Amino acid sequence: MDDAAQPSTARMIDFWLGGEHHFPVDVAAARAFEGAYGPCAPLFRDLRAFLGRAVRTIAAAGVDAFLVFGAGVPTRGNVHEAAPEATVLYTDVDPVTVGLGQRILAGSDRAGYGFGDATDLATIDPALLRRFVPGWGHRPVGVVFLGLAAFLDDATLRRTLDELYAAAAPGSFLAVDFDSEELAAYPQALAMMGPAFRMRPPAAFGPLLGRWTPTPEGIVPVARWRPDGPPAGLPDAFHGGLAVRRAD
Ligand SMILES: C[S@@+](CC[C@H](N)C(=O)[O-])C[C@H]1O[C@@H](n2cnc3c(N)ncnc32)[C@H](O)[C@@H]1O
Repeated sequence: MDDAAQPSTARMIDFWLGGEHHFPVDVAAARAFEGAYGPCAPLFRDLRAFLGRAVRTIAAAGVDAFLVFGAGVPTRGNVHEAAPEATVLYTDVDPVTVGLGQRILAGSDRAGYGFGDATDLATIDPALLRRFVPGWGHRPVGVVFLGLAAFLDDATLRRTLDELYAAAAPGSFLAVDFDSEELAAYPQALAMMGPAFRMRPPAAFGPLLGRWTPTPEGIVPVARWRPDGPPAGLPDAFHGGLAVRRAD
């Protein structure tokens, strides 16, 4: 595996999840971040468990294809592991992450990985889309948009989610999360997230979803979204939920 010069949040998450697809630079950045904030592994385990519950809920509704944006490292309970009967196209804008994902999924005939800028659907290879998300635009799919809203400003996020709504067939689901204002009390950790990082108060989430209609559970702290056990008492760093693309 090639080494990377810059840390990536995706591979830092892999480190926190106990995965095997990160580099020394990611471990150093993860430890520095924890020095400024506190332990992160439990928070990301919680977030990954939310992904699993959301993806299984979508699959139980009969959806058998997923399109994943800002996908990061496709392991540790990621989408194709939570929905093993489905086909999955993972996309990311970071070429190192895309290469890593392609190596990890090289032996899979149900899950693939390609470049994709979530803010511009035309950047996704149409052949990959046809292969792993057959019927995109005509059949309901699961759109997974986790760990990404925090890196898009409000106008870009609103437009991106609206374009996804227009492109996805009625009956499609959106799994989405937002970063709360948890890091406001940790300015050193906040600075490490870079200038593009956006925290949002819960009241800001709904309007950004535009035409996507949240399921009755709403957009809530991820640990409280259809929990399958008692809450672990962690900070509500991430809020998320499912939303549906209705018929026009
Ligand atoms: C915090 S990581 C989340 C990774 C993964 N979703 C997870 O939960 O483990 C954010 C990811 O979004 C990617 N990203 C940032 N901007 C993007 C964009 N405009 N389109 C697609 N991916 C993007 C980054 O390269 C990174 O891999």
